Amino acid sequence: MTIFELETSCVHTVETSRVPAPEASRVRAPRTGCVLALETSCDDTCAAVLGEDGEIRSNVISSQRSHERFGGVVPEIASRHHLEIMDIVVERALAEAAVGLDDVELVAATRGPGLIGALLVGLSTAKALAAARELPFAAVDHIQGHVASAFLAPFAPPFLSLIASGGHTLLAHVREHESFETLGTTRDDAAGEAFDKGARMLGLGYPGGPALERLAAGGDPCAFEFPAPGSRSLANRRSHRSAIVGRGATRAFGRSLDFSFAGLKTSLLYRLRELSERERQRCAADLAASYQAAIVEHLMLRAEQALELTGLRRLAVGGGVAANGELRRRLGSIGVELCTPPPALCTDNAAMIASAARYGRRYRYPDYLALDAYATGERPR
Ligand code: KG4
Ligand code: ZN
Repeated sequence: MTIFELETSCVHTVETSRVPAPEASRVRAPRTGCVLALETSCDDTCAAVLGEDGEIRSNVISSQRSHERFGGVVPEIASRHHLEIMDIVVERALAEAAVGLDDVELVAATRGPGLIGALLVGLSTAKALAAARELPFAAVDHIQGHVASAFLAPFAPPFLSLIASGGHTLLAHVREHESFETLGTTRDDAAGEAFDKGARMLGLGYPGGPALERLAAGGDPCAFEFPAPGSRSLANRRSHRSAIVGRGATRAFGRSLDFSFAGLKTSLLYRLRELSERERQRCAADLAASYQAAIVEHLMLRAEQALELTGLRRLAVGGGVAANGELRRRLGSIGVELCTPPPALCTDNAAMIASAARYGRRYRYPDYLALDAYATGERPR
């Protein structure tokens, strides 16, 4: 079947301009040889090499385009595709880093959360590569990886981290490189899921976030009201058209830092039902812009509340939704020290997994051989 064909042309390398190493005084990671990391938690097959000071030597991402026709990721197809292309992606990452396996001193892989079959491909491959050379191994939590993308900037703790991806939305207090404290998380859909489901309702492709953002570019964000919990009303948003939010504004919306996007999705559904097919087409850009504005508004308000409650003045973002231009524009207006990694380090990638691995627990050979992956919602204590 064509969907299992290797599309080596879809292997591309993220811009890897030699990122400077973090300041020595603020970073406790030991100097090591190269770190080779693999990430296969969803539908991107990723491998990356970090140099001994934490600089990105290569960051290869192969995105599976076979899911577009299904409007979402099909787990079994994703796993099989990872299996087909994993070795090629690893070879490419080593070649672009101009290193061989003998230069690698630590192997890492995402252990979870994610699609279990997909995770197993990357985890097993990485364990095999490490075991063959009796190298140490780091099993990285995917969310910790998104948080650690900031360390590549370099941006060192303490800071507030806003992670918004297809599977997760959370606010984390990052006090140290190794861990974080969750301050708020989503009660239902993730922010990326809200983008994907909204895009699907608007007849756009998968993944929906980038497609919806493109459509929204030509629309009026104040044309329709899509309220999310804690959001200011449309009338209020109109008067804040410049989108600069006063920090005091967040005080009015209670202390919960949890997110909820399910109601937003339903309100788009109801709004679409009220419109004729012709009206839908005429207003598509306005609908997309207003819907995107509501998601961004909800993320912004919770992030600002968290900054206020923690007293932190440093904010890093990660996860696929952090690639969104409107969110990045709004974040730029809140007046804190901000870390917005390049979009390719926000969406799933293995450089962030290698970054987390530099600071996390290392298993000695052969202690990691029995390590298992964990699916979404099954994070072990
Ligand atoms: O972090 P990620 O690559 O994978 C997960 O861990 O889920 O995030 C993927 C999510 C998808 O829901 C996708 O629609 C969303 O990130 N996304 C965006 C943009 N680029 C990716 N959402 C809004 N605007 C974007 N530009
Ligand atoms: Zn992710």
